[in-house]
Amino acid sequence: MFALPDLPYAYDALAPVISDQTMRLHHDKHHAAYVKTTNELLDKAGKTAGSLEAVIEGSAKASERKLFNNAAQAWNHAFFWEAMSPERRQPDGALKAAIENGFGGLAGLKTAFVTGGVDQFGSGWVWLVSDAQGVLRVLSTHDADDFVSLDRLTPLTVCDVWEHAYYLDHKNDRKAYLEAWFDALPNWSLAASQFAAATGQGEAWRYPAPRVQDQGRAA
Ligand code: FE2
Repeated sequence: MFALPDLPYAYDALAPVISDQTMRLHHDKHHAAYVKTTNELLDKAGKTAGSLEAVIEGSAKASERKLFNNAAQAWNHAFFWEAMSPERRQPDGALKAAIENGFGGLAGLKTAFVTGGVDQFGSGWVWLVSDAQGVLRVLSTHDADDFVSLDRLTPLTVCDVWEHAYYLDHKNDRKAYLEAWFDALPNWSLAASQFAAATGQGEAWRYPAPRVQDQGRAA
């Protein structure tokens, strides 16, 4: 059984960009439902995998769309919470240099990131990713799609552009949400460790392992 990870900060820590009310609904209802449905679908199929990453990769390959959508959304949201921080930070070191190489600096990355999120038609996510050579790109994905099964690209940060992520706080103004988000909330410490992992130093972030009593079961 996969657990719903706790938020790494208080519900109101990201206000005013993301309100207490949005965080409670987003984490306790939306994210919780994806985790619950993933567990139910695995249980119904009589299987438990060793990791959520394995569930995502397996369901993608087998075209088990409902399981994939819920497992990937469970992963995406857990990573999204970690990808934000109430402490305003700036990229530094190797990550800062890669941003300068790829986008001319943080302002150029912001423009690319906001545009990527605004241009994502319908629900989805906008990501900053790195390849193994440390080349950065901004990419958007539709619905639950993610980069777990693409081992040549590592996500450094992500912003949820489903309407449930911003509608209470920014109404229909996705651009204002993305601009405020980019200025205040990215966790550049996580992005730096993800960038290091992408280029061969250390491990990339992973979803918390299933609870101990389930780990002995066959995948
Ligand atoms: Fe969401």
